[in-house]
Amino acid sequence: MKNKLRVLLTGGCGYIGSHTAVELMRVGHEVVIADNLANSCMSVLPRIEELGGKKVAFYNIDVCDSEKLDSLFSVEHIDAVIHFAGLKCVPESVEKPVLYYRNNLTSTMNLLETMIKHGVNHIVFSSSATVYGESDIMPLREDMPTGNCTNPYGMTKHMSEVIIRDTAKANKSIGAVLLRYFNPIGADESGRIGEDPLGIPNNLLPYVAQFATGRREKLFVNGNDYPTEDGTCVRDFIHVTDLAIAHIKALDFIVGKSGCEVFNVGTGNGYSVLQVIEAFSEACGKELKYEFAPRRAGDIPTCYADPGKAEKLLGWKAERDIRKMCEDTWRWQSNNPMGYEK
Ligand code: UD1
Repeated sequence: MKNKLRVLLTGGCGYIGSHTAVELMRVGHEVVIADNLANSCMSVLPRIEELGGKKVAFYNIDVCDSEKLDSLFSVEHIDAVIHFAGLKCVPESVEKPVLYYRNNLTSTMNLLETMIKHGVNHIVFSSSATVYGESDIMPLREDMPTGNCTNPYGMTKHMSEVIIRDTAKANKSIGAVLLRYFNPIGADESGRIGEDPLGIPNNLLPYVAQFATGRREKLFVNGNDYPTEDGTCVRDFIHVTDLAIAHIKALDFIVGKSGCEVFNVGTGNGYSVLQVIEAFSEACGKELKYEFAPRRAGDIPTCYADPGKAEKLLGWKAERDIRKMCEDTWRWQSNNPMGYEK
């Protein structure tokens, strides 16, 4: 760690936000969280404090509420912001595009305006590999085209990137890092915090984990006729703790600098859906019986990162393998079969 920072995490009670809060505190930073608890709950807070070893300043506010955001910046000293808050359900974004554009863009713009007003100059943004849209070329590199996204959720990530980049161009004191996440899975090694989606999980790993505890009756593999080795989709799964650490490296990189840099945050390795189910079966010690189902609309066959830029400029590299990702997910899920107490 270079300097001790007081970092505002919007959406800090969510899956990636909570793990990043813990990692920040573990290396001595202080954390302020702003979260409207739309897809998270208060009971994660004592666990973040327990793992991080200190108190968190928590504000139950919506980042879309500019007045409340302004009050937070008036009372808290903030050195840097990590912007996680946002709606993230792909099918919902297809059904309710305006909700997604309004929410995810208003929050980003409010945050930038409030930061500028209060002289807070550093931001790390939670972007996604989804900004690359459908690419035939793998691995994905940061200089490849973006913006041809397959759904409104992806477009909000792309448009937020554009807004942040233009803001950094116009305000010479602003330093921004855009982190394009691949597929975060896993949980803190303690098993105390993890992913706890509302309702039936959309994403593969939380679904598989709930299936393994018996909370879900059937496991479907969507599509077995993709042009991949075993016919199922291939993704770059990354341990959420490695991802959380990438945020700390991004802060180390940007604090004191201006401009805007973008980094992929992935391992560079692709695993198929069947390989992941196999790895999870080993981790939980149960055979997981699945059925093949039709392809899911909008899925691309293969997606994995070239993480070389992050290694070169941030000195960051993923360290936890697929086995560890599954073991840690299982520890969280088996210790907390119904997630957090709500
Ligand atoms: C999805 C989003 C992406 C977002 C990311 C966040 C889509 C199209 N993309 O990525 O924008 O940034 O989540 O983590 O939703 N699968 C099954 N059975 C299941 C669930 C999933 O076979 O019950 C398959 C999917 O068809 C896909 C793979 O597992 O092939 C991974 O799915 P998922 O975990 O939802 O991630 P992405 O689609 O890669």
